[in-house]
Amino acid sequence: MPQNYIRKILEARVYDVAVETPIHEAPFLSERLQNKVLLKREDLQPVFSFKIRGAYNKVSQLTEAERARGVIAASAGNHAQGLALAAKHLGIKAVIVMPKTTPEIKVQAVRARGARVVLHGDAFDEALAYSQKLVEEKGYVYIHPYDDVDTIAGQGTIAMEILRQYSDPIDAIFVPVGGGGLIAGIGAYIKYLRPEIRIIGVEYEESACLKVALEKNRRVVLSQVGIFADGVAVAQIGKETFRVCKQVVDEVITVTADEICAAVKDIYDDTRSIAEPSGALAVAGIKRYVEREGIEGQSLVAIDSGANVNFDRLRYISERAELGEKREAIVAVTIPEQPGSFRKFCQTLGKRAITEFNYRYHDASQARIFVGVQTKPDSDTREDLVALLEQKGYPVEDLTDNEIAKLHIRHMGGGHAPNGEHEIVYRFEFPERPGALLNFLNKLGERWNISMFHYRNHGAAYGRVLIGMQVPKGEKAEVESFLDLIGYHYWEETNNRAYQLFLG
Ligand SMILES: Cc1ncc(COP(=O)(O)O)c(C=O)c1O
Repeated sequence: MPQNYIRKILEARVYDVAVETPIHEAPFLSERLQNKVLLKREDLQPVFSFKIRGAYNKVSQLTEAERARGVIAASAGNHAQGLALAAKHLGIKAVIVMPKTTPEIKVQAVRARGARVVLHGDAFDEALAYSQKLVEEKGYVYIHPYDDVDTIAGQGTIAMEILRQYSDPIDAIFVPVGGGGLIAGIGAYIKYLRPEIRIIGVEYEESACLKVALEKNRRVVLSQVGIFADGVAVAQIGKETFRVCKQVVDEVITVTADEICAAVKDIYDDTRSIAEPSGALAVAGIKRYVEREGIEGQSLVAIDSGANVNFDRLRYISERAELGEKREAIVAVTIPEQPGSFRKFCQTLGKRAITEFNYRYHDASQARIFVGVQTKPDSDTREDLVALLEQKGYPVEDLTDNEIAKLHIRHMGGGHAPNGEHEIVYRFEFPERPGALLNFLNKLGERWNISMFHYRNHGAAYGRVLIGMQVPKGEKAEVESFLDLIGYHYWEETNNRAYQLFLG
């Protein structure tokens, strides 16, 4: 047991700048889940996330000589704001290196807290490398966002507060995991004093670096990291954090982006505050856990860890919340191409509300429709809907979990390409910033003809594009080595059913 942490947590200096945040019961969620759900409101910190605790504790422990050198970090997120505020409070110079792609709102938030912002590189890795260069050249002290004993101890003060604030039994504490600083600090304290409380890490399924590390018993570097929950988009769990996690974490649950969106809504319904995706992870984890275990009457704490979300991202979050909540199903249905068949199909759906209806002529005998239908998570599920349609003789495919159906096809016009031979389809993610789409197109060049293109700005940190390219036989490997050079994440989607049904 990492006992040396207990003393460090008890002695951590955080309250010069951080506040003791309240722990609230979430009444709607508790009622729905038949368990007592408690939210530890770290979104109410002065920088709208818990990160100020670790950053301040770390910076306040520096020697006079180190303070005089100034501090530096590479971060486009909550650590940047926490460190900037901590340094300002202690009168220390702070430099934050951010990728050039960082949204202006975050750059301004860090500047407003008195730090100098250096914009460098397109991606986080480049910003990180540059910050290390500045450490060597200028002698700044590097402040790690999670893999540091004092940072971990600062985050551990959350656990100290929870035990003080809530004296009834607690069954489990759910903690979002990025690099593992938050869960290591909380876990170390809880397991020392109340080992019966389960410590459950919650990760976004596309950045689940702790889960794989625990499974393989070594720190694995994920080859791809989804950046939807940007606060926890970390490719490898920290070294010290992993050492601690191995001893204090009972299990790790992973959740989807849609489940995170649904959790943002749950938190809103109970508190009227908005959590950022990483901030809502723990609630999404509780929902999964309760469903899996079928438990009732337990006391479950979620760390609501942050609220730094751009306003324009809420459009996407609210759109996906219904899917995450299992209150909407998306299906592809084939109906006869004849008068009255449309009406008959709608009659089959009965009183269920239709959220989306796209119709496309397929051939002289059949039409294919893309339909969104409201469902109920308990009494009228998507499985019930599919069974009903099948029973009525409609060929139906459930596309509710199909990313390109949800992200692109429901917003696209066009239908099948008449001469779309040799079309290969890719889905891309690239860092979003003004001019990013044009930049993407420039990189793509004119070598292969683009036969389909869909881009929609969600106000997210990254742009998502679905693209069809006409590639003569035998040139596919060449296309992919070219795409590798462009350096953005991509997935081939030519065999995706949603594409084949509606566009291919
Ligand atoms: C809002 C939010 N939640 C959770 C985390 C995860 O913390 P850690 O990297 O210590 O695991 C972060 C990290 O920055 C965060 O910003």
